[in-house]
Amino acid sequence: MSIYKKAAEMVKHSGRITAFTGAGISVESGIPPFRGDDGLWSKYDPALLDINYFRAYPEKSWPVIKEIFYDFFGKAKPNAAHRALAVLEKNGMVQTVITQNIDNLHQEAGSKEVYEFHGNSQYLICDSCAGRYHVSEVNLDEMPPYCRQCGGLLKPDFVFFGEAIPQGVYARSVREAQLSDLFILIGTTGEVVPASMIPPLAKSRGASIIEINIDPSNYTERISDLFIQAKATEGMIGLMDALGIPLPPE
Ligand code: APR
Repeated sequence: MSIYKKAAEMVKHSGRITAFTGAGISVESGIPPFRGDDGLWSKYDPALLDINYFRAYPEKSWPVIKEIFYDFFGKAKPNAAHRALAVLEKNGMVQTVITQNIDNLHQEAGSKEVYEFHGNSQYLICDSCAGRYHVSEVNLDEMPPYCRQCGGLLKPDFVFFGEAIPQGVYARSVREAQLSDLFILIGTTGEVVPASMIPPLAKSRGASIIEINIDPSNYTERISDLFIQAKATEGMIGLMDALGIPLPPE
């Protein structure tokens, strides 16, 4: 039986399925991963995304944040892997997407139940009064951007190193790990805690694990029951074919 047929059987025999995604699912949308040969952390210093550094040197941190997450990410579109997860949700075969990504591509692909473990880059929040702005409302040519209400520093509404995970998202993700029969891991190293603790928790509670990645990850030997070594789009298209579910064109 092909690996895709095996994956399809696992999906068909699961009552509650969660997809757990990382930067790898967005690489074919043109967004580089953080780690790996041409990863963002090989070009930029992750310290720029440390919350204390950002607050101390916003004039240094913000221009790089703008370059990476707004000038570059801003034009990315969902790819077939994002769309496949949205179709599976519509078919009642995936209940939740837990993503570490901040690129909003799951929502743009049509997924509704999306838990953003590291927040979302579409909104900026005032570090003083918590005023919230959609990025389109803010002139990012003025660096760093400040709050129109109180003059406080605006910060992207995603989780910086040294910041806590949004409490509601964390709790709901743990709950899905406790209740799901199957986790589909797509494009993640499994290196960043506490996000990386969610799949092992699911495994410990009896979930089966399908992993789609171009390379083995921290999960592959430890918890993955089925490892599909493929790009995210190839893996998800193969799964949809094996399930006999057509994937609508872009
Ligand atoms: N298809 C599938 N997987 C891919 C592809 C692809 N086309 N390209 C790369 N990958 C895999 C890599 O093999 C790697 O396992 O995606 C993963 C990317 O790893 P990271 O860049 O570390 O991404 P992620 O695991 O999501 O990082 C977690 O780290 O810096 C923080 O907050 C950031 O959310 C991020 C977190």
